[in-house]
Amino acid sequence: MTERILPARTVSGVLCLPGDKSISHRYALIASLAEGVSRIRNYSTGADCGSTLGALRALGVEIARRGAEITIQGRGLEGLREPAGDLDAGNSGSTMRMLAGILAGQPFRSRIVGDKSLSRRPMGRIVEPLERMGAKIQAREGRFPPLEILGGFLRPIDYTLPVASAQVKTAVLFAGLFAEGETTVREPARSRDHTEIALRQFGADIRTGPDGASLSGRARLQARELWVPSDLSSAAFFIAAALLLPGSELLIRDVGLNPTRSALLDFLRSAGADIQVLTRVERNGELAGDLRIRASRLAGGVIEKDLAAALIDELPVLAVLGAASDEGLTVRDAAELRVKETDRIATVVENLRRMGVAAEASADGFFVPGGQRLRGAALDSFGDHRIAMAFTVAALAAEGESTMAGAGAAGVSFPEFYGLLRQVVR
Ligand code: S3P
Repeated sequence: MTERILPARTVSGVLCLPGDKSISHRYALIASLAEGVSRIRNYSTGADCGSTLGALRALGVEIARRGAEITIQGRGLEGLREPAGDLDAGNSGSTMRMLAGILAGQPFRSRIVGDKSLSRRPMGRIVEPLERMGAKIQAREGRFPPLEILGGFLRPIDYTLPVASAQVKTAVLFAGLFAEGETTVREPARSRDHTEIALRQFGADIRTGPDGASLSGRARLQARELWVPSDLSSAAFFIAAALLLPGSELLIRDVGLNPTRSALLDFLRSAGADIQVLTRVERNGELAGDLRIRASRLAGGVIEKDLAAALIDELPVLAVLGAASDEGLTVRDAAELRVKETDRIATVVENLRRMGVAAEASADGFFVPGGQRLRGAALDSFGDHRIAMAFTVAALAAEGESTMAGAGAAGVSFPEFYGLLRQVVR
């Protein structure tokens, strides 16, 4: 699907966005292991979170879905059934990595497959700790999907993650649910902590500190009623559009503001963005609030070290803002970008250049000089949802018309993206 994108003058209005992708995956996975019926409202509408539900159904979990509300009949820690065929994670690294932690604790053989992009993404990072816990895992060339997992009796471990990855942390903690004793995960930089918060909500015995989390295995989990805040990483595209287009003002309701995710707001504010948090509520241990964003002149800046890890999903759209900022944007320590749905260093720089913007790639980041004009161009998502959305925003602020090939990729996390954009573009 190719979208035609005309330049916009401004964006304005009030938006409610679909539920957070990271939180949705976790609620569905944990609810399946709990005892009783969980109800989850504002579950992500993206294809990735649908892949998680599909895989859970194939494992014998009954799930009813009515729009964005799902009910899950938990099967308890021992209740999953051997699947009749392959489990399909689609494009979703989260599904494959986090589910692998659960499958490691099952006394049966299962196989998880993914699409072409997922089949190229690194899985050694979960294979290693899960094998140390006692699971047997076969991966293509030892580190790529598909994964064939023979689970069973697991030992707890004390594991230091080689890369800051919430997905890997989650895989180990989920496996720890099935191991007798205490499993500890330590991380080099703080990654999103939705798993720790959600496990606590479902009654797990989990302790958290500044450098990691410890969990006592075999505790029974209890079903819950939960609400998923709107996805800040999806809001990021609308925030960027509002900042870029003169005269814009957007109100985005009930956005997730978990401090391990909200570095985006702090970074943008420090660069001069007019973003206000109008309300704050806490539900199920997660913070959320309404955001008001007004068009702003941005200074630019440097993103490196822990900040690069905290902003990893937002770096494509920040690159676009960087081009229009005063001083430009430098990103370092973000080699993880190379192993996302696409090599996002390459796909960001390629699309910027198509728009006539100078940009330089490095091994672990990029440099986009500021004060540049964006020109309408034939853009390509390369099958990556965040690239499709980041450069659609760039196209709104460009001179002349653009096209986005493969725009349908947005549906992986945010199927409503183009529809909502049409509502606020003036
Ligand atoms: C996610 C963690 C991050 C992020 C991804 C979602 C999660 O990946 O990029 O979009 O929900 O845990 P890594 O764990 O690979 O850093």
